[in-house]
Amino acid sequence: MKFAEKDFIIQEKMINKPKELIIKATAPSNIALVKYWGKHGLQLPMNPSISFTLNNSLTQTNAHLSVLKKPLNTVPFTFYLDQKHQPNFEPKIADFFKKIQNFAPFVTYFNWKIYSHNTFPHSSGIASSASGFAALAKIIVDLEKHLYPPQTEEYYTKKISFLARLGSGSASRSTEHPVMIWGLHHKIKNTSDLYAIVPEFEIHPIFKTFKDSIVLVEKGQKKVSSSIGHNLMNQHPFKNIRKQQAYNRVSLMTEYLKSGDLENFIKLTESEALGLHALMMTSDPDYILMQPDTLKIIHNIRNIRKETGLPVCFTLDAGANVHILYPEKIFKQLQKFLFKKLEIEIIHDFV
Ligand code: PMV
Repeated sequence: MKFAEKDFIIQEKMINKPKELIIKATAPSNIALVKYWGKHGLQLPMNPSISFTLNNSLTQTNAHLSVLKKPLNTVPFTFYLDQKHQPNFEPKIADFFKKIQNFAPFVTYFNWKIYSHNTFPHSSGIASSASGFAALAKIIVDLEKHLYPPQTEEYYTKKISFLARLGSGSASRSTEHPVMIWGLHHKIKNTSDLYAIVPEFEIHPIFKTFKDSIVLVEKGQKKVSSSIGHNLMNQHPFKNIRKQQAYNRVSLMTEYLKSGDLENFIKLTESEALGLHALMMTSDPDYILMQPDTLKIIHNIRNIRKETGLPVCFTLDAGANVHILYPEKIFKQLQKFLFKKLEIEIIHDFV
């Protein structure tokens, strides 16, 4: 079933108003194979995207809620990462609470203490905003379950992704496993710009054992935020070409995921990564996020593939870190030929 924006506006009367509540949720990170780059309106994507959900890189969040005497216009909250108050994260969360108020007005009835922990290193360049907002969206939908008459499971699942999207676009794809598609695609059933879905097709067994080893070339805050990059797409000379390309590529990627066509999967995945960075390098103003080590690793991967025939490839996010994708069964060989030689910290994740 497809949901419209109005379906996520609550119509029922509240049936319950607990004084205190602790709600916990965990959500994974994800890595896009075909990238979302460019947005419009209320966090709607310029093009559809498709991702692998990462099972190891998780955000675990506990929200401690206490009811207010009177609902406020804004949500009073404090955010803690690993038990430490983190005011620098709060503006983005405040903005999120503001954006979701139409669809979750009940968030203003409570005072929130939000405790988060990532299972991956903080600011390692792994998209903690995706897993972070997905975890928070799960908590909010769980709260809705406590307060209002029950809805269908499908409504709840889609609403989690819908709300997560309003925090960070890619967070919409951090809500289910193992592959998610966000963005309307006329050839793929039930797709929507409003939330991500798990496509109906079965992915080939080879992709069920895929690993993502993330080489931490650059830790810490991103140099240029994704929001700036998305905005630059509005005036980008390649905007329309990119829209069409991503649309076609989501179709192609679904074919490769179904058939287990590793050769074409590798070709397309790498082209997407390079294409994403090419868009940044041809924006006005232009910028470069890759570092010398990023290129060194890319060349290493390509050389190893050429020399050994091993099905390994790379992808990149909006940063310098390299995601190395490969079937689990070649892990030991890659350990020997690649990982040990890099001398850079690596986080091994799985799809
Ligand atoms: O979700 P945002 O606004 O941080 O944008 C993420 C964009 C990319 O990570 C570069 C691509 C993607 O689809 O995840």
